Amino acid sequence: MIRLDRYLSEGGKFTRREAGEAVRRGLVAVNGETVRDPSRKVDETADRITVEGADFRYTEFRYVKLNKPAGYVSTTDPGEKSVMDLVPPEFRRAGAFPCGRLDIDTTGLLLITNDGQLAHELLSPRHHCEKTYRYRCRPVDGEQIRRLEEGLDLGDFTTKPCKIEAEDPEHGSITLTEGKFHQIKRMFLAAGSEILELERTGFAGLTLSGIGRRGDYAELTEEETELLRRAARSQNA
Ligand code: URA
Repeated sequence: MIRLDRYLSEGGKFTRREAGEAVRRGLVAVNGETVRDPSRKVDETADRITVEGADFRYTEFRYVKLNKPAGYVSTTDPGEKSVMDLVPPEFRRAGAFPCGRLDIDTTGLLLITNDGQLAHELLSPRHHCEKTYRYRCRPVDGEQIRRLEEGLDLGDFTTKPCKIEAEDPEHGSITLTEGKFHQIKRMFLAAGSEILELERTGFAGLTLSGIGRRGDYAELTEEETELLRRAARSQNA
């Protein structure tokens, strides 16, 4: 048995707050009877829940953040040494997959989920979801940083403006709102430098906090899944 507002937000269409509002506004029925109490317990395996008359099916979505080590491929392909080998097999069985790709030698934050719609929204280039990486590179000067931040012509596309916080000529962090294949490595090469190490530290509001060392993972807290849903929403607007 779970709370009705949780049942609705697990379905992926509502944040917890929106779910509560929908219930209070009388849009939700349990077995044909309108319910206005969001804390009402429902049996997710037996009760029939409708929202504005339409069936609302419960899917148990799983969300985990992994601190990816180098040497693992962001794939579900069982033939490869995959990031999916680092989380319990139940995630693969539940249809979870890595939300986006980190290069084999890139480390850090990777979301793994079976919530296809949320993953799609977070990855869609239209939605400008922020990704932050710590880098180590061949020394760059202020002019090179300016070119990287302004946007560079990479031949097949021009990068969007991004934000760099350089700690010294060889270290810093870069925040992008796009995520094309090898993008940061290609940007630094185009600016006359080279990425030597890359670690993702932020993705759509998530951080590495709560995950221990490389190779460790943590299921997202309810606050974190809410954060992702809100991020996907606001980028949709
Ligand atoms: N940019 C890259 O070049 N590689 C990554 O893994 C992520 C972003």
